[in-house]
Amino acid sequence: MLMIVLRFLHVVSGALWVGMFAFMTFFLMPAFAEAGPEGAKVQGALMRRRIPLIMPVIALVTLVTGFWLFQRLSGGAAGAFMKTPTGRAFGVGGLSALLAFVVGVIVGRPVMMRMAKLGESLPTAAPADRPGITAEMQRLRGRSAALNRVVMALLLVALTAMAVARYV
Ligand code: HEM
Repeated sequence: MLMIVLRFLHVVSGALWVGMFAFMTFFLMPAFAEAGPEGAKVQGALMRRRIPLIMPVIALVTLVTGFWLFQRLSGGAAGAFMKTPTGRAFGVGGLSALLAFVVGVIVGRPVMMRMAKLGESLPTAAPADRPGITAEMQRLRGRSAALNRVVMALLLVALTAMAVARYV
C-alpha cells in the first residue's frame, strides 16, 4: 500500500512539476515579455493564486517521495544500487531534479518575486520613475529566463532518466 501511495504521489507531482514548468518557460514567460506592462497585471493575478508557493510544494513532494522510493528500491544499499545501470539512471535523474529545485527555488524564485513586486508598483509609480522600473523589470526578466532555461534542462534530464531507468 505504501508503495502505491508513494508512486502515485511521485509520478503525479513529478508530471505536474515538469508540465507546469515547461508551460511557464516555453509559453507564459515569452508571452509576458511580448505583452510588456500589460503582462504585469496577469503576473500579479498569478501571484494572488499562490503560484510561488504551489510550485515549490509540488516539487518538494516529488523530491521527498523520489528519495524515499530510491531508498526502498535499493533496499537501503544505495551504493550497491548505484552500481547497476537502473540505479544509476534513477540516481542521476534524482540528482538532476534536486539541482533543478535548488536553482529554481533558491536562485530563481527571489528574482521572480522582485519582478512581480515591481510590476505591482508600476501603475501607482510616479511617471518619472516608470522608465527606471520598466528597465529593471526587463533586466530581471532576462535573468529569470536564463535561470528558467537551466532549470528546464535539468528537469528534462530527470524526466528522461526516470522514463528509461528500468530498461537500461
Ligand atoms: C522531475 C522530477 C521527477 C519526475 C518527473 C519523476 C518521474 C518518475 C516517473 C514517471 C517514474 C515511474 C518510472 C517507472 O516506473 O518506470 C519514477 C520513478 C522513480 N523515481 Fe522519479 N521523478 C522525478 C524525480 C525523482 C527524484 C528526485 C528521485 C530521487 C532519487 C526519483 C526516484 C525515483 C525512483 C527510485 C523511481 C522508481 C520507483 C519504483 O518503482 O519503485 N525521482 N519517477
